[in-house]
Amino acid sequence: MSFEQRSRTFLDELHRSGSRRLLGGCGSVHSGEQQPLNFAGNDYRAMSGNPAVLAASRSSRMVGACASRLLAGNCQEHEQVENAAADLMGFETGLLYGAGYLANIGLLAGVVERSDVIIADKQIHASLVDGAMLSRARLRRFHHNDTTHAAQLLERERRANPERTIWLVTESVFSMDGDLAPLEALATLAERYVAHLIVDEAHALGVFGRYGCGRVSELGLGRRTFAATVTLSKSAGAYGGLVLTSPLVREVLINRSRSLIFNTALPPGVAAAGAAALDLFRQDDSERVALLRRAKWFRQALRARGFSLVQSESHIVPVIIGSSPATVELANRLALRGILCAAIRPPTVARGTERLRFSLTVAHSEADLEQVVLVLHEEARALGIIDASSKP
Ligand SMILES: Cc1ncc(COP(=O)(O)O)c(C=O)c1O
Repeated sequence: MSFEQRSRTFLDELHRSGSRRLLGGCGSVHSGEQQPLNFAGNDYRAMSGNPAVLAASRSSRMVGACASRLLAGNCQEHEQVENAAADLMGFETGLLYGAGYLANIGLLAGVVERSDVIIADKQIHASLVDGAMLSRARLRRFHHNDTTHAAQLLERERRANPERTIWLVTESVFSMDGDLAPLEALATLAERYVAHLIVDEAHALGVFGRYGCGRVSELGLGRRTFAATVTLSKSAGAYGGLVLTSPLVREVLINRSRSLIFNTALPPGVAAAGAAALDLFRQDDSERVALLRRAKWFRQALRARGFSLVQSESHIVPVIIGSSPATVELANRLALRGILCAAIRPPTVARGTERLRFSLTVAHSEADLEQVVLVLHEEARALGIIDASSKP
């Protein structure tokens, strides 16, 4: 079959099953008059348009770093954001990469060797899976958040080879379900089976823990965690990714991490914007606390109206719809009424768990959330997704 025929078949099948992906709209749309309410982005702390963050992004004397950090591209802004993140998150040091994706593949491919084993949650982000594949180590997956299954896999691997290096990998707040990993239990398992714990804090930074320090630090697990990773593209409203770890690991990564060595350094103004956002986190913790409180109210209000929710405990609230066409139709109807949310379908999530994902930010007011509950309920009833007799 030619490439063209193969591609047509591939795209036609996606179209038929309602799973074809399209590029989305632009920008962080904050709540307010005339503008749609945007629940499809990750600007959890509304930092991308914050005047101090914008000013920091323009403060650099050059746009591009124009070289790898190992050559002439290492700027003071990069080190500034590394120090700010390590300080905030309670790690000894940090290493900045061009993106969260690059940090994750760089970390795993940099520290894991082919003879090692990676034991990872079934729902870890694609960048961690790709990093695991690049490392060429064997990847074993435990059922999502299932510590019994994780323990079984650890036991089997440790018994098979007492010398083998084992890595235990999870996210702290899962991007698709908005639920929280059992980090304390995983840290205990890592110690029991002599494994290294790696935690992706992409969706926890800025939202969980004092000043948004993340869940590893909130739970006092810094010393029990080999490394955490974050992105500056979500709550910090900027771009770039970091590995938070020890000086030894940092030095190994600088010497082995191909996504650092062979990638042009992050534009310095972007790094400065990230550092400014992390600084702002420390200045006011009340917004973060209020965001989590409003998210709780939102989840309860949706459940009370008959919606089926995943066990989210965070600002990421997925509403299960259960079929791709219905999910897309409902998302389109909401968009026509000024509410943007993400329609998440296979292969990102399992068939039958197609969902609308609402990512709440500090810019969403209580009134905004009430409006969403009302409109979602009306449209879902009109489409027969929830019982027409359910109370508005
Ligand atoms: C859990 C998780 N890790 C890593 C990333 C990658 O971050 P970035 O967008 O900065 O490459 C994302 C972003 O989608 C994510 O959700």
